[in-house]
This record gives sequence, structure tokens and C-alpha cells, in this order.
Amino acid sequence: MSTTSNTTTAAAPLRLAVIVGSTRDGRFGPTVGGWFTALAEQHTGFDVDVIDVADLELPSAHPDWGTERTPALTALAERVDAADAFVVITPEYNHSFPAALKHFIDLHRTEWEAKAVGFVSYGGVSGGLRAVEQLRLVFAELHCATVRDGVSFHGAWDHFGEGGRAHEEDGAAGAAKVMLDQLAWWAKALHTARAENPYR
Ligand SMILES: Cc1cc2nc3c(=O)[nH]c(=O)nc-3n(C[C@H](O)[C@H](O)[C@H](O)COP(=O)(O)O)c2cc1C
Repeated sequence: MSTTSNTTTAAAPLRLAVIVGSTRDGRFGPTVGGWFTALAEQHTGFDVDVIDVADLELPSAHPDWGTERTPALTALAERVDAADAFVVITPEYNHSFPAALKHFIDLHRTEWEAKAVGFVSYGGVSGGLRAVEQLRLVFAELHCATVRDGVSFHGAWDHFGEGGRAHEEDGAAGAAKVMLDQLAWWAKALHTARAENPYR
């Protein structure tokens, strides 16, 4: 059950939650996440909140139905609920997305609903694209609208230089803007629709 109202007002600024989905020791995720977050903050469409799954103290197992959320999980659910849109930063592990990311997704339900989702993926040869295609199915189940365009880094470590900057010639910043523009359109449309007509 949602911890805060899903019926945001049309006048409030749009809020984007950037979710960093890898938690591995020595992970590359913060490099990709930091690069994207800087671009998202420059985009005029959104206020940005960063949810790094590695920073969260999640229960090791999914709670039983009806279990009351702890204060920390309630605060986390409120951050998810407050977002109008999400960008999931995901690597690919064995042709899919990280288990820790799925656990975080599964701990919330109505907080995702009628929201827009975009993806930044990275990996070896795949660029994380197989993880993204699977995440689209997960977010369809959660009543989200995933945007078509995204950003994908094949051999991710080759695309970033000093200070975590992506090499400009790769065109990733342009791809990120295309995605953010699509996300802003959907986020605004869905924000207005939720305000006029609560999803549930
Ligand atoms: C368990 C595991 C499985 C992986 N499987 C794939 C894969 O199927 N396809 C791929 O392109 N890269 C794969 N990789 C490479 C990762 O996508 C790459 O190392 C990436 O940097 C991992 O993200 P992280 O550093 O944020 O954890 C795998 C890495 C790990 C640790």
C-alpha cells in the first residue's frame, strides 16, 4: 500500500528518481550513475533524487503480506512515491538485471504506478540491453510506461575518462537528452492524469 498520496498536484515540479541498481564490491555503477545524474540535473524538466540501492538497508527477504514497514522502509517508499519518473541505471549480469535491483523494485508496488521509466544500461558486449528488455516486462507489471529510447554503454569502462566523464564523441549525452525529453513528456502527462483522476 502506498505511504503517501499518489494524487500529486499538477502545479508541483516533476521529480525524477535516478536508481543506481548495482551493489557489487568494486562496481562501475556509480561512474555511470554520477555521469547521468549530472546531465539530469541540467535538464530543465526535473528535480532529481538519487536512490543508490547499495546505500539502502533492505531486509534480506521479502516481508510477509501485511507486515508493517519499518520507519526506514517507509521513508524509502515515500521517496519512490514522490517521483513522477524514474531512470534505472542497470548493468547486465548473466543476461539479466542485478538481483538487488529486483529486490528493491519488489519492495514497492503502488508507488511505481502510472509513472514513466527510462533506462541507462551498461555491460560487456551487451551494453546491458538484455537487462533493459527484461526490466521493461517487470515495469509493465507495475503499471509503468517505459520510454523507447535509452542510453547503453557496451564495454562501459572504455567510455569514461578522468573524473567519470563520458567521452563526448560517443554521443551518450545526446542519447541521454533524447531519453530525458521523452521521459519529461510522459512524466508530465501522467502527473496531470493522476492529479485529475487517481490511478486507484
Ligand atoms: C555476475 C556477472 C555477470 C555478468 N554477466 C554479463 C552478461 O551477461 N553480459 C554482459 O555484457 N556483461 C556481463 N557482466 C559484465 C558486467 O555487466 C560489467 O562488469 C558491469 O560493469 C557490472 O556492473 P557493476 O560494475 O556496476 O557491478 C557480468 C558481470 C558480473 C559480475
